[in-house]
Amino acid sequence: MAIYAIWNNKGGVGKSYLTFQLASEYARQNPDKKILVVDLCPQANSSSMLLGGVIDGEKHLSEIHASQTRRTISGYIEDRIQSPYKTPASGSEYISHVIQYNDTIPDNLYMIVGDEQLEVQASRVMGATYPGPEDAWRIVHLWIKDMITDILYSWNDERHENSCVFIDCNPSFSIYTELALSAADRLLIPFSADGSSKRAVKAVLSLVYGKRRHTNDRQSDFYVESKRYNMALPSIYMYVGNRLTQMNQTSASAFKIIVNEIGDEIWEVWRTSSYVFRVHPNGAPTPNSRKTFKTMFQYEVNDANTASVVSGALGVPIALLTAGPKTVAGRQITVNQSQLDKQIPNIEQLVRNLE
Ligand SMILES: Nc1ncnc2c1ncn2[C@@H]1O[C@H](COP(=O)(O)OP(=O)(O)O)[C@@H](O)[C@H]1O
Ligand SMILES: [Mg+2]
Repeated sequence: MAIYAIWNNKGGVGKSYLTFQLASEYARQNPDKKILVVDLCPQANSSSMLLGGVIDGEKHLSEIHASQTRRTISGYIEDRIQSPYKTPASGSEYISHVIQYNDTIPDNLYMIVGDEQLEVQASRVMGATYPGPEDAWRIVHLWIKDMITDILYSWNDERHENSCVFIDCNPSFSIYTELALSAADRLLIPFSADGSSKRAVKAVLSLVYGKRRHTNDRQSDFYVESKRYNMALPSIYMYVGNRLTQMNQTSASAFKIIVNEIGDEIWEVWRTSSYVFRVHPNGAPTPNSRKTFKTMFQYEVNDANTASVVSGALGVPIALLTAGPKTVAGRQITVNQSQLDKQIPNIEQLVRNLE
């Protein structure tokens, strides 16, 4: 089973929304497996959705943040700041069983709740990478991987055969994003239809895989150090175009132009650096044309408009959301069946493509 990091160096592309939808749907499709969401973004948006949305989720989030043993990602990071180079094996103490807070989430979904304290801890995490033992950088970058190992161990799944992990990341290439990338073996890269998404496609390559955009560009410490310590990098599993379809015809064709531009950029990445991709499913032939490449590595999730707002705001996974009037923060909003019909099969299919 896999550890997916959902990351793009750009904000607002749907990382947290997709983490919420994909993890819930994966849990629904695989009732015999345990699913873990690790929220490594200080904004804790995916935590808020999973724990019940804007009202209930936020309330649960503050309760968890106020708990004595801070049962969040920051609780675990604090353990590691105290014991940087020797694992305290305490990862499983920080899990939340999501159904206890939100009964629309499948019983097999667990999470490490996000926490804004991560920002405050970042400099101390950085501080632990140097000085210290010779390989301090490597050991610190494995903290999240250690935490996941502890959790799998507590699930009697050391071999990682019956579980799947999703890590929601912050857009910035900060220390905690680096820790997420060192823990993950696969990358899902959401993007949206705009010019900066096009640039972000390349930014991921230079930051993670050391691809120089200009001859004199300095490579990221993350790349240089990962290489020095012979650490595995996650491979690109899929680029997910998110919210690409629009109602309005004129904007739809304008969007198409940009989406094609980004498609060209992604195709170029494959042509020059196919080694950074993960051919899937296991045993599938390596794509040999733009069409077969696109089928394997690109996916589109359309804009579900009101349905997605309500899904996130109430913390109800899209597949369980029904059409009709809903009350969100005291106001009535109507979800249309047509919006559900568009996005539900879309998310279901994307999840079927995840191993
Ligand atoms: N497919 C979608 N359809 C409609 N709204 C979406 C979709 N994906 C994301 N959104 C909305 O877009 C906004 C940004 O998404 P978010 O997941 O917070 O981005 P990120 O985590 O990348 O910063 C949120 O309000 C989210 O609900
Ligand atoms: Mg986010």
